[in-house]
Amino acid sequence: ANVTFITAQGVTTELDVEPGINLMHAAVSNGIYEIVGDCGGSASCATCHVYLAPGVEDKLPPPGERELQMLASVSSERRPNSRLSCQIVMEDRLDGIRLHIAETQW
Ligand code: FES
Repeated sequence: ANVTFITAQGVTTELDVEPGINLMHAAVSNGIYEIVGDCGGSASCATCHVYLAPGVEDKLPPPGERELQMLASVSSERRPNSRLSCQIVMEDRLDGIRLHIAETQW
């Protein structure tokens, strides 16, 4: 299914992501280096911070306890729509979602 990443500089990349793949992994393995993913996706580094575009939140399960803890230490401003992209696992109903990548990850 289709996901669009938008950097803080406005560079847009559209990816086709298989169900079951987390969106940090999808970004990094496709050369979107504004997402770092230092911990490999175990919700323990907060370097895969994204902001959900309007409407996306309704399609996702809410952040888990561990994700919430890590969101408290993101480098860029934490906003109500902040999420860790490694904790978003692709599924068909997410087709077409848009994610804004946080300006800094460290
Ligand atoms: Fe480390 Fe997402 S990759 S928290």
